[in-house]
Amino acid sequence: MTTNTTESTTGEPTKICCLGAGYVGGPTMAMIAHQCPDIDVHVVDLNPERIAAWNSEELPVYEPGLYDIVKQARGRNLRFTTDVPAAIREANMCFISVNTPTKTFGIGAGRAANLEFVEKCARTIAENSDTDKVVVEKSTLPVRTAESVKRILSSASSTVKFDVLSNPEFLAEGTAIDDLLKPDRILIGGDSSAAIEKLADVYKHWVPDEKIIRTNLWSSELSKLTANAFLAQRVSSINAISALCEATGADVDEVAAAIGTDSRIGPKFLKASVGFGGSCFQKDILNLVYLCEHFGLPEVAQYWEQVVKMNDYQKYRFTTRIVKKMFNTVSSKKIAIWGFAFKKDTNDTRESAAIYVCRDLLEERAKLTIFDPQVSLEQIRKDLEYLIAGPNGELTDAERHLLNDNVTVAKSAEEAAYGAHAIALMTEWDEFKDCDFQSIYKSMMKPAFVFDGRNLLDNQMLADIGFDIESIGKP
Ligand code: UDX
Ligand code: UDX
Repeated sequence: MTTNTTESTTGEPTKICCLGAGYVGGPTMAMIAHQCPDIDVHVVDLNPERIAAWNSEELPVYEPGLYDIVKQARGRNLRFTTDVPAAIREANMCFISVNTPTKTFGIGAGRAANLEFVEKCARTIAENSDTDKVVVEKSTLPVRTAESVKRILSSASSTVKFDVLSNPEFLAEGTAIDDLLKPDRILIGGDSSAAIEKLADVYKHWVPDEKIIRTNLWSSELSKLTANAFLAQRVSSINAISALCEATGADVDEVAAAIGTDSRIGPKFLKASVGFGGSCFQKDILNLVYLCEHFGLPEVAQYWEQVVKMNDYQKYRFTTRIVKKMFNTVSSKKIAIWGFAFKKDTNDTRESAAIYVCRDLLEERAKLTIFDPQVSLEQIRKDLEYLIAGPNGELTDAERHLLNDNVTVAKSAEEAAYGAHAIALMTEWDEFKDCDFQSIYKSMMKPAFVFDGRNLLDNQMLADIGFDIESIGKP
């Protein structure tokens, strides 16, 4: 690590303000503050509860290693605050890291990104700036968003100069700290080389210069969407093959291992699953689809849209298999749902396959007992209510009864499985591998089914105990 002091274009030390203290803004800024003791980092958010949590022992984001990093930098050069105007005024570099959900209304509904929050941030920065600033888009955005951000900023004042950069974040949840510490690359897009180098200087505190890629703004914005689209496409590709494996007697893990040895394909991101989730993959592909349609490329749009359709099919296929195997009815049968987060080592449930599978099982009148080591009861209820209520956001009386009568949340995997007809494993938490399956088997109804949506468990061991085990892409 070098200890050089990073200077702004005006010769002052770099001072950062980050708007948005979510899963991306929080950990990224904590890492910058941790690695750059000479840079003041203020993270702001409109949500006072989130900020209070960042200032407490119970961070709002569960991420292995995050707390240690926050603890070391907090109070030194890392601050979490709701005083947005003051943090902007003091900074000479502002990151925008607010959410950009898929639009649910108007033009582009269901596809385009809702840029309302990004635009508000640009306006807030403009209103509170009386000195020059570098504005960094951290949020994943549609190509050419920087153009709008630039226009909003430049129309506010003729004396203050803003340089806009795109610096997408590639961290994956659950491994955010490692990803931030040892990134494959840092991507900076922009048209001012001075501004690009100013941001590069921040990362150069711990990232070798050869890993910092400089591009134009549009390439940077599009690279982020493309990276997520390619990653999601790999998951949908292996999941498509998993359906064929189930039909033919091939084993998807064996197929993945075999093709992964080809150095052109590579072994990573070939794990068949109940379907990808998370806040990014679906949103970013739909965004890409919308862009393609907008630019008159319907064939390209349809090509990418199929990745999302395959993912929906995979989730639906999983529920259908459960119902079929359980003698075509799960009505009034207790099913233990193991895991609710969209992947292990995070408390994030956005777009988690578990939510969709639970909804479909509830429609079949199953009784669900859900356990996740990091997701709260409130979050589970909120996610199910949101999905079941649909676009108008209001639950009918029947839907409320369905949820109240058929969903409980357990405190352990064993408790969830007690008296159940089946376990549906939705998230690959390590602790599920270490459960005492002998005693779980004894506590369950017979035949005792396990539907392993992550191919996590030892099939032979479970079969020897007496379980009826069904995995993804296995005969
Ligand atoms: C989000 C986007 O989903 C992702 O595409 C982008 O790359 C980075 O930002 P994430 O950090 O996971 O990712 O979102 P979220 O955890 O929802 O955090 C966003 C935060 O911004 C929230 O805490 C929200 O309160 C805050 N926010 C939102 C503001 O402070 N101001 C706003 O106007 C809107
Ligand atoms: C992703 C990108 O990896 C990251 O670079 C970007 O910044 C944000 O989006 P994230 O969504 O946090 O990160 O997690 P990721 O590890 O990519 O997993 C996404 C989903 O795909 C999860 O539901 C995961 O379980 C699933 N997945 C991943 C599979 O089903 N199989 C795999 O082989 C890999």
